[in-house]
Amino acid sequence: MSVVGRVVVVAGATSSSGVATARALVGAGARVVAVGSNVERLSAFERSVQGAATRVCDLSKLAAVTELADAAVQQYGSVDGLIHLVGGWRGAAGIAAQSDDDWAAMEAGFTTLRNTSRAFFDALVASEAGRLAIVSSSVVERPTAGGASYGAAKAAAESWVRSVADGFAREQARHKTEPSAQRAAAVRFSIMAFVDADMRRDNPAEAFARFTDVDALGQAVVRLWQGDAAELNDTRISLIP
Ligand SMILES: NC(=O)c1ccc[n+]([C@@H]2O[C@H](COP(=O)([O-])OP(=O)(O)OC[C@H]3O[C@@H](n4cnc5c(N)ncnc54)[C@H](OP(=O)(O)O)[C@@H]3O)[C@@H](O)[C@H]2O)c1
Repeated sequence: MSVVGRVVVVAGATSSSGVATARALVGAGARVVAVGSNVERLSAFERSVQGAATRVCDLSKLAAVTELADAAVQQYGSVDGLIHLVGGWRGAAGIAAQSDDDWAAMEAGFTTLRNTSRAFFDALVASEAGRLAIVSSSVVERPTAGGASYGAAKAAAESWVRSVADGFAREQARHKTEPSAQRAAAVRFSIMAFVDADMRRDNPAEAFARFTDVDALGQAVVRLWQGDAAELNDTRISLIP
């Protein structure tokens, strides 16, 4: 099993974590479709990642995401991976300061996950090696007052992905003809925070202890295709060093 030749959609690909993920996938031989809502940021992505296809799509709109998924299956014949990276972060001084605006921003990340996982679900089930992954937060294990909205949205996202994992297991058990019938897996990566080369350059005295380098996410995503789907499905993988 490997990622070579797999078609992997990186949903929300223009941040440094998306760039690192796409680079690692392309470097390992995958065919990458990088998605973002902002044309300028996607152009910048194209300048820094060679060999990935890009698509503009507002992932908060189910009809647009369904169109994106149908077009990808049509063009590539299959979609083997969905790496969902839309999330963001909002914090405030405490519980009373959690604003509706901040919640709306956090909830938007969850809505995009619901949309992409619904639109690509059948393709991932049909794939020889379907993989879906999100990046969650250590805040889910230890919720904080300041990060209440963020933590709640991440907890919802984790629950949703566990449901997708159950969906994969049920779909593939229905068609079970041999013990290895489980081909799709949904996983949750957990980090405290990302660090990238720009952050290290701008803060040379900072150790960034417990931060996850974006390149480590890229490597972990590539490894998803080296593991057994039945063992991987519904797992939570800490990427905290
Ligand atoms: N950064 C951290 O320290 C940290 C910590 C814990 C967990 N995480 C999680 O890790 C993941 C990646 O985080 P990140 O900070 O690298 O990126 P992010 O700020 O969450 O954004 C990721 C991407 O989402 C895209 N996006 C936003 N709304 C969109 C929409 N409606 N349609 C399509 N694309 C959309 C953005 O591109 P466009 O604006 O171009 O559309 C961007 O490229 C997130 O789930 C985040 O919550 C991050």
